[in-house]
Order: sequence, then C-alpha cells, then structure tokens
Amino acid sequence: MTSPKFIDIHSHILYRVDDGSKSEKMSLKMLELAVKTNITHLVATPHANDLTQKEQSERFEKRFEHLQLMIEKNGLPLQLSLGSELFFGPGIETLLEAPWATFNNNRKYLLFELPLYEMPKEVEHFIFERHLEGITPILAHPERYTYLHKQLHKIVDWYHQGCLMQVNAGSIVGQFGERVASVGQRLLRAGLAQFVASDAHDPEYRTYLALPDAYEKMLTFLPEEMAGQLTYTNPLKAIRGQSIDAYEIDESQLLEDRWKSVAGFWTQIKKRFVR
Ligand SMILES: [Fe+2]
Repeated sequence: MTSPKFIDIHSHILYRVDDGSKSEKMSLKMLELAVKTNITHLVATPHANDLTQKEQSERFEKRFEHLQLMIEKNGLPLQLSLGSELFFGPGIETLLEAPWATFNNNRKYLLFELPLYEMPKEVEHFIFERHLEGITPILAHPERYTYLHKQLHKIVDWYHQGCLMQVNAGSIVGQFGERVASVGQRLLRAGLAQFVASDAHDPEYRTYLALPDAYEKMLTFLPEEMAGQLTYTNPLKAIRGQSIDAYEIDESQLLEDRWKSVAGFWTQIKKRFVR
C-alpha cells in the first residue's frame, strides 16, 4: 500500500512563541519529520491569546519567514502557511483583524480553541458573528474538552450553526486517554468532523507521526475516501478558502456503545410489542 499524503492544519511548529517548538533546531527536526510522514503542506498555528496583536504579529511573522527560509535552504518538499489557534477568551475579537487570524490571511477559515476545563459562554455568538463576515470557524479538538463529553449536542448545535470541527490525530489513537479517543471516534462516525490534524508540539511526544497512525485507525471504521478527505482534501480546501462539502450527520453514532446496545434493545422491544 502506498502511504497517503497529508495536509496538516494544526501545528505548533513556530519556535519560542508558545508551548510548541522550543528552538530553531527543534523546528527543523519537526519539519524533517513532517516530510518523512508524507505531509506536503503545514499550517503553522501558534496559540494566540494574551499578547497584543502587534506583539504577536512581530513574532509570528518573523519566525514564519525564517522557517520558510529553512525549508528552502534544506530543500524540503513542504509548503508552509501561516495561521493561528485563537484562544476563545475576552480578547479574541481584537485578534481577528490580524493577517494570521485566518489561514494564509484568506479571510475564509480560522482555527480557534476553547478553555480546556470550563465551558465558555457566547460561543454561538462568536460563530454567528464570523458568519456575517464570511469566515467559517473551525473548532480545534472538540473531543478534548471534558465538559462537552456529557453534552455532545452542543457540538451538533455549533456544527449546524456553521462551525466545522477538527479532531486531533493523537486523540483517535488514544494519546489523551480512552474517553477522548471514544468521543473523537464517535464525532468522526457521526460525520461531525471535517478535519483530522496533528496538533504537533515537538518531534518526540506530540508529533506528526500521529497522523499516519490515526489514518490507519480511521480505516477500521470509516471509508477510505472519507479518511482522505479529513486528512488531505478538506485541509487543502480550507487553506485555499474553498467551500467544504458537508457529511450526512448520523447523531445515533454519538451514543456510547453501552447506550447503543440499550437503544437497540428498545427498538427490538418496540418491534415486538408496539403494533
Ligand atoms: Fe494546538
């Protein structure tokens, strides 16, 4: 089997700007690993949160340009785009005008994250406002927010409002525990996620290698065509600012296996007794 190519829309490859790459040397290692993993295009998505737009712009753009030079100098067959992972906090609106707020400054797609441990308010309002501006927000790793595990209907609502979902490759293969793996896989089965990305932070632990591992895992429960869309075609469209086809949503896939069997039992009972 020829190994598939990947396009990764979530990566902390810029050095010394967040909790991702710690040095120029580490970023080069990560770039080389991305090439080995068959990644053809990466979007650098540093965390954008507490600094002013001007301070972040200076650092992001400087590091991004330097990494592009490194790619050229080392003859790496890899394209690099600039974006960010906008933190959903009080300052998010002020960051939206920055060129790195959307992928390649395309003003069509942005990546944002929620606080990890507390459900924020006004997510719906944020999605609505972006739509008025013609921007589609992509929620990073919805499966990792534990407060959403018991209310997956929130993700369904946000999806219907026009927010797309990006599941982490590492989540699918169990890097964040069984519960996160189960939620991530259920979101994919339900057709609620449009992207699977690495969210790579370093060359050893949270790496690009999660992508081929997740791809292999996805082939056990999704059609091959869909696995390719999640890891290549949809990311390419988002970078280019093109529209992305929706999957048919099957909310029954969101149920945990134990409840699926209960739901199946009830269907059988109803078939026998309700005429
Ligand atoms: Fe991230």
